[in-house]
Amino acid sequence: MSSLKGENIISIRDLSREILGLVFKKAEEVEERMKNGAIFSNLRGKVMASLFFEPSTRTQLSFSSAMKKLGGEVIGFSDPEGSSTKKGENLADTVRTVERYSNVVVIRHPKKGSARWAADNVEIPVINAGDGANQHPTQTLLDLYTIFKHFTEEIRIGFVGDLKYGRTVHSLITALALYYPEKIKEVRLISPSILKLGEEYCELLERKKVGYIGIGSQTTEELNLKGLDVVYMTRIQKERFPDLEEYEKVKGIYKLSPEIVGELDEGTKIMHPLPRIDEISPEVDAMDQAIFFDQVGNGLPVRMSLLSLILGED
Ligand code: NCD
Repeated sequence: MSSLKGENIISIRDLSREILGLVFKKAEEVEERMKNGAIFSNLRGKVMASLFFEPSTRTQLSFSSAMKKLGGEVIGFSDPEGSSTKKGENLADTVRTVERYSNVVVIRHPKKGSARWAADNVEIPVINAGDGANQHPTQTLLDLYTIFKHFTEEIRIGFVGDLKYGRTVHSLITALALYYPEKIKEVRLISPSILKLGEEYCELLERKKVGYIGIGSQTTEELNLKGLDVVYMTRIQKERFPDLEEYEKVKGIYKLSPEIVGELDEGTKIMHPLPRIDEISPEVDAMDQAIFFDQVGNGLPVRMSLLSLILGED
């Protein structure tokens, strides 16, 4: 793949370091032009179908905003209860219908593999906005964009919370291992043992020789953030637990208080894909280390870049 024109974005694995570079370069240009008040019109006449079978605030709104800011239009739903899914229509029929009305599909669905399935059923590009606990590739693009804005040298990164069900963690770890292994001095995996990172991701880190500690008995439970450049906090994914009693055991396990953050190295940056529940206290928001709302903001230029590259206009 040498360009993104007409391509699906299903897993971060389908991309390459070169392609990621293209996305980031264009995102930077877009950001710069937006700062100067530019109005874009390169996707005029194009329609993005936004199909959200699971709740979303940032992903859905930033994709919609990105499309509109490029001069395009958006159709779709954010609650499948209001669509024919409620009447029993299957996913293949839904996307084959939407294909007639749009140029690109953005889909979020609770089932792993659903975005791939959708892409197999249509000719237009499909973008995975999260498929169950599996992957969330566009979040990874904005996460990497955010990391590279702050760090040009190699980094030590810690993932905290739900590493089992957190799809943003899965995609980001995959991208770091596949495309930037030499930029990572350490990956620290911090989670309760029932939420440790899946074997396939641990194996990938090992295979790519990404330096990581703390997964002796596979994971560290202790909230040890010492020496980290990036702390990637995550929400415990309540909705993915087969047994809510298990959730009760681990909910609220990690909480970043202003005291804990105050102890961190000055240059440490705290990221979070959001939404947060109680894992970062609101008083942390104003501290220098907190960059999660900048991270949210980066979703816009990154998704504008992505849509422009996929729909093949400048
Ligand atoms: C994440 C998601 O949906 O996977 N949110 C997001 O897209 N920014 C994380 C989460 O729901 O906890």
